[in-house]
Amino acid sequence: MEKCVVIYKSKTGFTEKYANWIGEELQCEVYPVENSNLVHLQDYNMVIFGGGVRAGKIDGVKFIDKFRNSFSGKKLILFATGATPTNEIEAIERVRSMNVPRNSGIPFFYFSSGFNYEKMKGLDKFFMSIARGMMRRMKDNEDAQNSMVADMKNSYDHSSREYIKPLVDYVKSI
Ligand SMILES: Cc1cc2nc3c(=O)[nH]c(=O)nc-3n(C[C@H](O)[C@H](O)[C@H](O)COP(=O)(O)O)c2cc1C
Repeated sequence: MEKCVVIYKSKTGFTEKYANWIGEELQCEVYPVENSNLVHLQDYNMVIFGGGVRAGKIDGVKFIDKFRNSFSGKKLILFATGATPTNEIEAIERVRSMNVPRNSGIPFFYFSSGFNYEKMKGLDKFFMSIARGMMRRMKDNEDAQNSMVADMKNSYDHSSREYIKPLVDYVKSI
C-alpha cells in the first residue's frame, strides 16, 4: 500500500475527527495544515488533504495549489466535510466542481458532519448568526424543508466513521 499522510484544516473539529479516523484506518500520520511545514513530503507517495466546506469552498484548499509542485509524482486525494447530508448529490457535486480543478483527476470524497456553533469564532460565528436568523424567519418557506436548513437551528453532529469507507477502500485498492 502507498505510504500516506493526512493533512487537514479544521475550525470546529469535524474535519479533524475524520482526518484522525482516516489516519487510524490507513495507519498513516495526521497533521493540521498549520503544521504542514513539519511534513517531509518526500517521505510519502500519497497526500490526503481535507477541509470543511464554507459557502461551497473547501477550507484550506489553497494548500493544494501551494504544494502542487511538491505533489508531482505523488498521489493526491481530497476530502471535504460539510453540513450537507450525503444524499444531496447535486449539492455535493457543486462542492466538487468548485474545488477540484477540472481534468486534474484528483479523487474527491465528501463526508457529512454538522454545525458546531459553540466552537465557531469570528466571521464564521457572525455569518452563521445571520444565516440562522434568516432561517427562523423563513421557516414556512419551501427552502426550509431542505434537511440541512431544517437542522441548522442548533449544533448537531451527523458525522460517522462509516462514511470514510469509500476513501479507505480506494486507497487500499491502489
Ligand atoms: C460560515 C460557514 C459556512 C458553511 N457553509 C457550508 C456549505 O456551504 N455547505 C455545507 O455543507 N456546510 C457548510 N458549513 C458547515 C461546515 O462545512 C461543517 O460544519 C464542517 O464540517 C466544518 O468543518 P471543521 O469543523 O473541520 O472546520 C458551513 C459552516 C460555516 C461556519
